[in-house]
Amino acid sequence: MEAELSLEFLRVVENAAIAAARTMGFGDRHKADEVAVEAMRKTMDSLQMDGTIVIGEGERDEAPMLYIGEKVGLSTHAPKANFPAVDIAVDPLEGTNLCATGAANAIAVLAASERGGLLHAPDLYMEKIVVGPSCKGAVDLDAPVADNLKAIAKRLDRDVEDLVVIVLDRPRHEKLIEEIRKAGARIRLIGDGDLSAGISAAVVGTGVHAVMGTGGAPEGVLTAAALRCLNGQILGRLVVSKPNDAERLEKMGVKDTKRIYDTTDLAPGKKMIFACTGVTDGNLLRGVRFFGEGIRTQSMILTLDDRQVRFIDSVQLEKRPDVKVRFN
Ligand code: FBP
Repeated sequence: MEAELSLEFLRVVENAAIAAARTMGFGDRHKADEVAVEAMRKTMDSLQMDGTIVIGEGERDEAPMLYIGEKVGLSTHAPKANFPAVDIAVDPLEGTNLCATGAANAIAVLAASERGGLLHAPDLYMEKIVVGPSCKGAVDLDAPVADNLKAIAKRLDRDVEDLVVIVLDRPRHEKLIEEIRKAGARIRLIGDGDLSAGISAAVVGTGVHAVMGTGGAPEGVLTAAALRCLNGQILGRLVVSKPNDAERLEKMGVKDTKRIYDTTDLAPGKKMIFACTGVTDGNLLRGVRFFGEGIRTQSMILTLDDRQVRFIDSVQLEKRPDVKVRFN
């Protein structure tokens, strides 16, 4: 599956990123998301797979496309063909506000695995802590923030004062931010995008040592898919805050609402592909560049089986006889 589909999924995230990037700075997050969804859906339908969306734009009645349970891929036109069965989690535009305002780190994202390889996470919040390979097993979602920071610093052979923790800038994180500050670590507050932040935490040299706080559960599953391939760790616990949340969870078969999910609980697949393309410039990837004669994108493709991490620079040239390729 990984060899066959990873480059195909590259096209899916590239096309979603290009469509979204065309709307960068227009101040319309819904439009930015809509065009990314459309581009992703269209490209996915040309792929030789029997795909099922397990994390997408929402429940069937609330999303016209890429809803949970939707079938995608060529098998929808040729049901008898023997295409590989794939579960797919998507976030066609992670950071809709970031794209709408032209801020950093908006990305188009997809993760895929064999059937059952990605948790069907409800669209609730999830309390999370994300660390890279050196800190795997050193953190505990129930431990005091200062203890987790000490454990991370120890594994990274530095002082707590040298750490940078990414936190979503939300009122709900007031106490967390205070505790991180009190412990002495530095903080990077972000407006949106804890998924791309989580990927950064697992890549040495990005200057990000952990992500802490509450964000979307679907983003938690996508982060886990990336971290399986990057050998990092995410711990997450669903946040049940509204009266009907518990009922929704029961319907989805979640019995223990207080369960702490580890990386392999969120993304248990034996085969895993993770693909993302930069929409706006970011920590790991440059955003889409339109340069008259073509479009340049930067993507990251991760595969678990063969342990490949590929950074891919693509140029889609205009279909013109005099077109020139630029080096950078
Ligand atoms: P969108 O891509 O839907 O705009 O979500 C971005 C995001 O910041 C995620 O990265 C994060 O997990 C979630 O929203 C946080 O939710 P909220 O904005 O409700 O705090």
